[in-house]
This record gives sequence, C-alpha cells and structure tokens, in this order.
Amino acid sequence: MTKPRLFSGMQPSADSLHAGNYIGALLQWKQLQRDYDAVFSVVDLHAITVPQDPATLREKTRRTAAQYIAAGIDPSASTLYVQSQVPAHAQLAWVLNTITGYGEASRMTQFKDKTAKQGLEAASVGLFTYPVLQAADILLYDAEIVPVGEDQRQHIELTRDLAQRFNSRFGETFVVPEVSILKETAKVYDLQNPGSKMSKSGDTENGILWLLDEPNRLVKKIKSAVTDNDGSIRYDPAEKPGVSNLLTLLSVLGGSTIPALEAEFAGRGYGDLKGAVADAVVAEFAPVRERALELLADPAELDRVLTGNAERADAIAEATLRRVYDAVGF
Ligand code: ADP
Ligand code: NA
Repeated sequence: MTKPRLFSGMQPSADSLHAGNYIGALLQWKQLQRDYDAVFSVVDLHAITVPQDPATLREKTRRTAAQYIAAGIDPSASTLYVQSQVPAHAQLAWVLNTITGYGEASRMTQFKDKTAKQGLEAASVGLFTYPVLQAADILLYDAEIVPVGEDQRQHIELTRDLAQRFNSRFGETFVVPEVSILKETAKVYDLQNPGSKMSKSGDTENGILWLLDEPNRLVKKIKSAVTDNDGSIRYDPAEKPGVSNLLTLLSVLGGSTIPALEAEFAGRGYGDLKGAVADAVVAEFAPVRERALELLADPAELDRVLTGNAERADAIAEATLRRVYDAVGF
C-alpha cells in the first residue's frame, strides 16, 4: 500500500532553527514521516523575496538542511531537499501566477502583515506572489496533506482554489490538498517577552532558544526567563505567560502533562521549574546540535545526501510539470 504524500517546508531564514520551529514543526514532521510519504523542503526561493545576502543564504540553507536531519528527518525514508535545486517550483509558480486573481492575491493577510511596517514601495513582487509559489511547492508533489500552523491556513485555501480552478479550466491535473492544521501543537513564546511568539525575527536575542546554542547558553537564557511576582507555578497564559511558557516547554520535551507538572511543582519556586526546563531543553537539543555540527563538518557528504534527495524530488516535480505544460498548450 502506498502512503499518502505529505509536503512541508521552512525558510532558511536564520543560522539556527529555534525551539518554536523544533516543537511546532520538526517534532511533528519526525512523527508524520512514518505514516506518510513525506517531502520536506528548505524553501530558499521563498527566502529571496526579502533583501538577503547570498553567502549568508547559502550558509543558512545548508544549516537548515543539517538541522532537519539532525532532528530526525530521515533523508532515506523522506525526501529532504533544497527548493532551488528543483527547477519545476519556479516554472509551475509562473503558470499558477497566470490563473491567480490580482484581487485574490491582494487579500492574503500575511503579505499585509509583512508589509505593514515598511510599506508597499519597499516590498517586492516576489513577496506579493509568495503564496502562489507556496501553492506550486505543494501541488508539484501531489501532496494530500500539508501540515501547517494556523497562520498558513489562508495560503493552503488559496492552493486548493488554484488547484480546483486549474483542473476545471484545463482538465484534471492536480491533487487538491487537505488543509491539516497542527491544532494540538504547542506554541512557544519569547522567554524575555512571553507575550509574543518565539520567532527567528524576534528582537530579544536572549529570549530565543536556538537549536544550535551551546548547552550553557541555553541554561543561561532559561534561568533569566521573565516570570512574574505571583510565585505559584500554574498554567495561565493570560495572567502568567512566562511561567506558562516554561510549563509548555517542559511538558512537550519532558513528556509530562501540564496538570501533572502543576502538581509536581506545587509549593516550589520558579528556580526549580527553570532548572527542570533547562535540563529538558539541554537533553533534547544537545544531541541535535552535535549531530548538526557533525553533518556541517563534512560538506561533501551533506551535498551528496541533498543532491540525491533533490534528484528524487525533481523526478516527481518534473512529471507534474509535464502534465501542466501539456494541459496549458506548451
Ligand atoms: P519564524 O516565525 O521564526 O520565522 P517560521 O514562520 O519560519 O518561523 O515557522 C516555521 C515553522 O515553525 C512553522 O511550521 C511554524 O508553525 C513553526 N513555528 C514557528 N515559530 C513557532 C513558535 N513560536 N511556536 C511553535 N511553532 C512555531
Ligand atoms: Na514566520
């Protein structure tokens, strides 16, 4: 029996992924790759929609791929590749651009959010059509399932609309994917600013737990996490965002439920909680970091793995692009 196809990806937008990416994406992917024919991409074409430095991009792309593998994405069971190594992404995105309404694209809230600060004059057309490239990513692999966070729902809906529109205009060509929101996925917040989510673009360097941080750096950041003056260890994201965030981290990484942790830490101080969180984070991240650094220390071997995976991805994507080109009259 063939497994259903799954597609997901992350931008290579930092040297290291962070605890939010790890918990919200990599841990899920690692589970899902058993039950699905999974395709995981480092989406570097998306990363050039904003100003970028080429040498840095190349480095971030390799580091992101290494962290996927180090975190447990198996490049012989899943297809793990760099998007720019598969030309069909850009080719299909062009075709999809021609069936996307300008008004439809203008309604994408993520573009509005991303351009809110600097204004439209500073934005590239590439950033505007980013969701169309994302649709191409998904449709090229006949993905049935696209596990994403709630913030990506609108883009997946657009992908479905474009697939259905193309199919009805040009004949059955695309698999229409399901929106599969990772509901139960815990959200991780900035340790210094627990009202906002931990993000690569976050501005409090000490609030972000990087997967590639040295263990003692992780411990320092966790020990200096912002809490409150209430003194009790309870999960209450509205009133106690800092403590609740620490409980989330400990629950996800340590495998205990939040109520069990509340019981365990009843009457104890924040220092104890932080110590336990630090132990759990270091136990989880240190081996991933070591493995990632090993992979990065052998560039030829990492390239060999990525090239082999890109060839597998390319074979699937080319076949879909062929159907599309035939359908539109090329
Ligand atoms: P960032 O906001 O740091 O740029 P991305 O938007 O690239 O992160 O997110 C990549 C993946 O990581 C997505 O699947 C997203 O749901 C997950 N993710 C990012 N930040 C968090 C977070 N703070 N908590 C949980 N999951 C997160
Ligand atoms: Na983001």
